[in-house]
Amino acid sequence: MNSVARPTVLVVDFGAQYAQLIARRVREAQVFSEIVSHRITADEVRMRKPAAVILSGGPKSVHVEGAPQLDPGIYELGIPILGICYGCQLIAQQLGGVVSRGDKGEYGRATLTRNGTSKLLGDTESTFSVWMSHFDSVSVAPEGFEVTASTPDAPVAVLEHTSKRIWAVQFHPEVVHTEHGQQILRRFLHELAGIVPNWTMESIVDSQIAAVRDQVGDERAICGLSGGVDSAVAAALVHRAIGANLTCVYVDTGLMRKNESDQVVETFKRNMGIELVHVDAGDEFYDKLQGVTDPEQKRKIIGETFVRIFERYTGGIKDAKFLVQGTLYPDVIESGGREGSATIKSHHNVGGLPDDMTLELCEPLRDLFKDEVRTLGTTLGLPDEIVWRQPFPGPGLGVRIIGEVTRDKVRILQEADAIVREEIRNAGLEREIWQAFAVLADIRSVGVMGDERTYARPIIIRAVTSDDAMTADWARLPHELLATMSSRIVNEVDGVNRVAYDITSKPPGTIEWE
Ligand code: XMP
Repeated sequence: MNSVARPTVLVVDFGAQYAQLIARRVREAQVFSEIVSHRITADEVRMRKPAAVILSGGPKSVHVEGAPQLDPGIYELGIPILGICYGCQLIAQQLGGVVSRGDKGEYGRATLTRNGTSKLLGDTESTFSVWMSHFDSVSVAPEGFEVTASTPDAPVAVLEHTSKRIWAVQFHPEVVHTEHGQQILRRFLHELAGIVPNWTMESIVDSQIAAVRDQVGDERAICGLSGGVDSAVAAALVHRAIGANLTCVYVDTGLMRKNESDQVVETFKRNMGIELVHVDAGDEFYDKLQGVTDPEQKRKIIGETFVRIFERYTGGIKDAKFLVQGTLYPDVIESGGREGSATIKSHHNVGGLPDDMTLELCEPLRDLFKDEVRTLGTTLGLPDEIVWRQPFPGPGLGVRIIGEVTRDKVRILQEADAIVREEIRNAGLEREIWQAFAVLADIRSVGVMGDERTYARPIIIRAVTSDDAMTADWARLPHELLATMSSRIVNEVDGVNRVAYDITSKPPGTIEWE
């Protein structure tokens, strides 16, 4: 995919997600970065010609059996290296220093004190706050290394060897709690490694468009739109690259949120002029879901129906050779490797694509992180509603209606959900909240409206904060905001007489109700 040459920093992963944050920070410093396994050999590194190498932190102690190592030949390549936390200890240990087992470790904020001049720290003040998270620490620096800073519990907190071009820090410059953290990374990248910062949005657009043109040429491509940000940005980008040779297919399951389908059609067909096959398949989904109450069975039916309809319509586009997918870099890392891992992800949104599909994959976002994809979407002219859309499950409102899904229940939920989202937006909380939505329970309760007794359904509001959906906490929404949502929902949505707020975190709950 990468047809345009660009300086690349390899971030060597020693485990536990530390590498992703470092890779993102490197890109914020406008330098392209890639994550590689710590098993990479010196030969492989030499062949990839990186502009610098960063060794990440990791959860292990360098002393335990099986602690991940680095091919020592990498230190001899003359490529600038920065070790962070575990990476710092590994450099010390592998190059002849001593790493002592800690007795209490150092976690959280610590005060770093400089010992004179430091190429890496530049003109930062003589003491500042850094974020530490380590048990062992370097007690003796390897020969030839200068110790340029320390903290009360880490006598060797910064190591430098200018002629070998190796630097190391015990603290975490990538976290926001470290003062000057980004400045230190920038210094390493721009001054010490001498990398020209050219990973900018313009260069991303240009290089990704060039790569799509290279791959697809004059062939035809199809793209399944889900309404979500990834497929939307992938489609917009491929359209820029190959124009009318792209056809998008949008299957409206009837389980989308209020006005969502209109917005997809409006954005892609009318505003961007993309050829869009809009399949209005709500009736078919409602038919298949009739009488079904089991959550897993509902998911299965929705997924299978989706695939069948998608196949039926894309099958009509006989001359297509490529299928565009919005796979992101974190998906690539998780599925274990960049090169040739062209398996179609068992994406809930498309419920798994047919095995016999002979299309080749075009994944123009596979180098990018989510925040870059959002910026790219805005640059390509997509509206905020799509670019900043919250995650939405593939089975849609089908898993937010407890019990049987009917057209009437979908209508009730769409109306209530629209109020929840509108009020979150009005309160300016849209980007702080990971997901905020309504759930329709399968029970009724007694109420009174005016002089009338009511017997109607409750709506449950669910709003959570999270970084990655693996864990989540219920959002502490202001009571006034909840009050507004509650009275609007009961007054404006026919069939609802009660509103509850879900105060369960994940775990033990899940974000969705089914
Ligand atoms: P849970 O409910 O497992 O959800 O805490 C975690 C995240 O995944 C989303 N989700 C789905 N996304 N297809 C999807 O594409 C699905 O079937 C699905 N189920 C849950 C959910 O919205 C949350 O962001």
